[in-house]
Amino acid sequence: IASTRSYHEKVIDHYENPRNVGTLNKNDINVGTGLVGAPACGDVMRLQIDVDPETNVIRDVKFKTFGCGSAIASSSYVTELVKGKTLDEALKIKNTAIAKELSLPPVKLHCSMLAEDAIKSAVKDYRSKRLVKQPTLGPEA
Ligand code: FES
Ligand code: FES
Repeated sequence: IASTRSYHEKVIDHYENPRNVGTLNKNDINVGTGLVGAPACGDVMRLQIDVDPETNVIRDVKFKTFGCGSAIASSSYVTELVKGKTLDEALKIKNTAIAKELSLPPVKLHCSMLAEDAIKSAVKDYRSKRLVKQPTLGPEA
């Protein structure tokens, strides 16, 4: 298979020109923050989504990853994937799809797992924040 070359190109491109690096305001009610770590190596990924509450569409996304090149490339790629998707669609993203797109070798699979976990964690945070702040869901409503 002639995938060695494209593996390097895709990973290196996302690693050298990572998309959507940065920070969103975690106190914003429309922002969900996911923070996950890989026990195997200690790498850490933070991924934040800004969600349109009317449509549940992710309108902005930022990440910061303290980790290896594959983890940075995986998070960069996943931010491109989730932008414009609904929360439910974003939850369906599998690390195997990320690993396949970037042609990660088996020892680097856990790096793409970080990206999947980070999305799930960000969606969970967003949903729990909105539940807490919805007064109409209270018993007195
Ligand atoms: Fe850097 Fe995983 S800790 S490669
Ligand atoms: Fe651990 Fe890449 S995230 S080696």
